[in-house]
Amino acid sequence: MADSPWWQGAALYQLYVRSWHDSDGDGYGDIRGILERLDYLSWLGIDGVWLSPTMPSPDEDWGYDVSDYTSVHPELGTLADLDALIAAGTERGIRVLLDLVPNHTSSAHPWFVDARTARDSAHRDYYVWADPAPDGGPPNNWLDATGQPAWQWEPATGQYYLHNFLAGQPDLNWWEPAVHAEFRRILDFWFDRGVAGFRIDVAHGLYKDAELRDNPPLQANHGELDGRYGLQPVYNANRPQTHDIYRDWRQIAGSYAPPRLLLGETWVPDAGRLASYYGSNDELQLAFNFPFAFAEFSEAGLRDVISKTLAALPFGACPVWMASNHDIGRFPSRWCAEDKPRIRLALLLLLTLPGTTVLYYGDEIGMADVLVLPDLQRDAMTKGAAGKRGNRDRARTPMRWDGSASAGFTAAGVVPWLPLPDVSEPDVAEQRGDTSSTLWFCKQLIDLRHTELGGGVADFELLPGPAGLLAYRVGDIVVGLNLSAEQQRMPTGAGRQLLATTGAASADPAALGPSHGKIARWLPALG
Ligand code: NOJ
Ligand code: MG
Repeated sequence: MADSPWWQGAALYQLYVRSWHDSDGDGYGDIRGILERLDYLSWLGIDGVWLSPTMPSPDEDWGYDVSDYTSVHPELGTLADLDALIAAGTERGIRVLLDLVPNHTSSAHPWFVDARTARDSAHRDYYVWADPAPDGGPPNNWLDATGQPAWQWEPATGQYYLHNFLAGQPDLNWWEPAVHAEFRRILDFWFDRGVAGFRIDVAHGLYKDAELRDNPPLQANHGELDGRYGLQPVYNANRPQTHDIYRDWRQIAGSYAPPRLLLGETWVPDAGRLASYYGSNDELQLAFNFPFAFAEFSEAGLRDVISKTLAALPFGACPVWMASNHDIGRFPSRWCAEDKPRIRLALLLLLTLPGTTVLYYGDEIGMADVLVLPDLQRDAMTKGAAGKRGNRDRARTPMRWDGSASAGFTAAGVVPWLPLPDVSEPDVAEQRGDTSSTLWFCKQLIDLRHTELGGGVADFELLPGPAGLLAYRVGDIVVGLNLSAEQQRMPTGAGRQLLATTGAASADPAALGPSHGKIARWLPALG
C-alpha cells in the first residue's frame, strides 16, 4: 500500500545504548559505537532503532532521570554524534527514535532545583506538591516503584513532592500549562533535527488525579499488569486527561514530513485500555502491547491475546509486538526456557504478526538473561530484588559481538559497566558465519516480512486449529506454529515452504514437529 506509514510491517530494534558497542573504551556503549556497527542493522534489515535514554542524567535510573531534555549525555556522545547517526541512518533507511521521559524529571533538572527552593518559585507548579495528611504523614497511600511511599518530605518548604519512581525522579505536574509548552518545544527541537519519533516513557501515567485520591486495593489473583504492592494504579496513572496530551502531540508529529512517530510505553492490563491510547487514530500511532509480552507462550495464551488485540484496536491502527525489553527481561528466558527451537518459534511469531515488531538487542541471536551477581548490579530500582521480576540488569548486559575476551563490545582489558554474557553464549560473528544460525533465521524472517507480508491488519486471519497449533494467514501466506509436544500438520497442507524454524526433512511436507514452525505460500492444489 503506497500510503501506509513506514512503521506498518516494520521491524524496529530497541538499542540499549550503554550495552551495544563502546567506541571509546570507557566500558559504556555510546552513540559512535552505534555508528560503527550500523551496517550490521542494515544487513539484518532493521527499519528503525529506538535508543534507550540519550539525554544528560545523573543516572540514578540510567537516563530515565533527565536533567536536560535538549542535549546528549556526555558519556554517550555529543549532539554532533547524534546528528551523524541520524544522517547515517537515513542513508540506510534506518530511522532513529529517541526515548522521551515526560512523566518525571531528575531532581537535578534545573526546573526542580528551582521548584524546591520556595513555594513561590517560578517552577514550583511544574511538580506535584502536597501538604501532609492530618497525622503529618504522606498525603495519600500511593507507593513508588520500589513499594515505598511515593512522597518525599521537603523540610525547606514544608510540603511533600510526588515521585512514582525513585525520590530522584519527581513527577511533573501536567495540570500546569507551562509543562505542556515546555514539551511542545522539546518535541520540535528533536523533530527539527530529524529524529523520526519518540518512545514515550510511562505514557499512561502523565496526569495524576487532581484531588490526589487514595488508590484502591488490588483484587485477589491480579495479573502482572494490574498493579503492584497491593494497589491498583487508578488515581496516579491512567487518568482520562492524558489523552488530551497525545491528541496535541499527534498534531505536532503530523505537522512534519514525513510524520513523526509516537510509540507509547502503555503499561496497561488489557486490550481495551491499550486501544484507548490510539484514540480515534488521533493519539499515539503505536502503543506497546504488554498483555502480549506477558501472555503465556502457548497456543491458547497467544491466540487469546492476539485476537483480543486485533478486535480492540481502532480500524487501520497498527498493533505492536515485542517480548523482551530492559525492564521485563528477555523472551528466550521468559518464554522459552532458553530452548533453541522455541526461541526460533517466538521469533517466527514476532516477525510475522501484522503491524510493528520491536526486537530488543540480542533477540536476534537468541540472547538470554544474564545472572548479574548483587555486587555487580547497577539498577538502583531493583537492586537485590528476587522473585519473578528480579533485578533488571539481567537484560541490560553488553552485546556479545565475537568470541574475544572483550566480546568485541569494548577495548581489550576494559571492564564493561555490566558483566558480559558467558563465552559459551552465542555471539554475532559466529552466527553470521553460519547460515543455519538463529541470527540468519531472524534476518530471513525480516526479509520475508518486507517482501511477503504487508503488515496490514486487514489481510490477517487467525485460523481455527487443534489445541497446540497456532496458525494464521496473511493473504496467501500461511504461518503455522506448533506450540505443543505432539506432532501437528500445517492446517492448509504443505504449500510451498518459504522458511522453517529448522531444516529437518520429513516424509510429510506438511508436518510440524513439536516446537517447530513454518511459513508457506498456500497453494490449494497441493493441499
Ligand atoms: C519505564 C522505563 O522503561 C524504566 O526503565 C524506568 O525505570 C521507568 N519507566 C521510569 O522512568
Ligand atoms: Mg563509551
